[in-house]
Amino acid sequence: MTVTIVGAQLGDEGKGGIVDVYGAAADVVARYQGGDNAGHTVVHEGEEYKLSLVPSGAVRGKVGVLGNGCVVNPATLFGEIDDLREKGLDPDVRVAERAHAILPFHRVLDNVEEDVKSDDDLSAGTTGRGIGPTYEDKVGRRGVRIGDLLDPDVLRRKLEYVVPQKRALIEDVYGVTLSEVDLSFDGFDAEAAFDVDAIYEQYHEYGRRLAEEEMTVNAGAFLADCIDGGETVMFEGAQGTSIDIDHGIYPYVTSSNPTAGGACTGTGLGPTVVGDGEVIGIVKAYLSRVGTGPLPTEMTDDEETLADETRERGGEFGTVTGRPRRIGWLDVPMVRHAARASGFTGIAVNHVDVLAGLDEVKACHAYDLDGETLETMPTTTERWGDCEPQYRTFEGWPDVDWTAVAEEGYDAIPGNARDYLEYVSEEVGAPLYAVGVGPEREETVVLESPL
Ligand code: IMP
Repeated sequence: MTVTIVGAQLGDEGKGGIVDVYGAAADVVARYQGGDNAGHTVVHEGEEYKLSLVPSGAVRGKVGVLGNGCVVNPATLFGEIDDLREKGLDPDVRVAERAHAILPFHRVLDNVEEDVKSDDDLSAGTTGRGIGPTYEDKVGRRGVRIGDLLDPDVLRRKLEYVVPQKRALIEDVYGVTLSEVDLSFDGFDAEAAFDVDAIYEQYHEYGRRLAEEEMTVNAGAFLADCIDGGETVMFEGAQGTSIDIDHGIYPYVTSSNPTAGGACTGTGLGPTVVGDGEVIGIVKAYLSRVGTGPLPTEMTDDEETLADETRERGGEFGTVTGRPRRIGWLDVPMVRHAARASGFTGIAVNHVDVLAGLDEVKACHAYDLDGETLETMPTTTERWGDCEPQYRTFEGWPDVDWTAVAEEGYDAIPGNARDYLEYVSEEVGAPLYAVGVGPEREETVVLESPL
């Protein structure tokens, strides 16, 4: 049995909380894409854990798997594992040997390329973690995989091939003098990030530790064995549909597939396995965006104060970067698009409490584009940026004791909020499985448990 959790918007929909609630019944939690660009906070027995790479289930004693579709920065991986151990936990994390390793020069390139692109308004506002450059090398067939770290000769051979190319790129194409770059992380400065020996030494050591702790696996075979043995597996998507490399608002996207198809290619299990289980879309009751690009429902001008208040109430600041997020009204065409791209069998709507206390709540039902009404997103981001939202207006709902609501169940949610939720569920064509009414694990109203 499997359940796949997918972000229905632009990331930060509160997937972590739902993974946490539903994951309680799972044996294994596997990530299938992305890397340490995804931030999630887990509160467990009064202790707060901030994770960006390790699947959140690892905090609760589940086996955490980083599938082959992930890009893995070993420094982050071991940093998070060591932190968890210091706090008295014993996380069981497995890493796919086919996953790609983020190398230090990827991070430098990510930052330099963003800078260069900003001259043409093309920067995506990346998290600066080297995600895009690592996926580029994967597709360019010059990447270094986790399995390569286990074989010193292969590691050195691959580094000797790729590093000089990257050095030429940064120095000759981007015209950067490395000694002048003020950037250091994970024990590397910009110079060392392009030095074969320095990278080899550190990554060989990572490989040694991965082997010693027996962390690497053939993810597909490992997960298939778990499923055959009757275990339940949760696939934890990171980011969201509208920043999917294929289905998102290109080029303001991340470089992987958060949509449910990614759960197949990113783990080594077939679509029949993923499709045999449930696929749950996570929707935030409004929209938030970290990063650049158009946002038709953004609260601007006379709604700026409302945006500020919503940002504060919802804690809308990037978990990885701390950046304030842009705020908008719910974009229903975006969620319809997500439901189709991933085939949602159910949805969870989060942050319903954050909108409480408003006189009215708006949702963009459709777009007006050049006099035409569109119910789903146009394929080019430029056309999406030209869309005029056609809003439906709902009566607001009061601020109530949401913890008590969560205890009492769905019927305790204020009626106007229920009208809003039922509208969203009907429009995306998927039943409502859960409603998030606060940041704590207990503040989720569960209507349906997929596991
Ligand atoms: P990257 O994934 O760091 O390459 O960033 C590419 C785009 O995806 C940028 O617009 C980021 O702000 C966005 N992004 C990446 N990870 C997340 C996330 O976890 N939540 C929301 N946006 C994200």
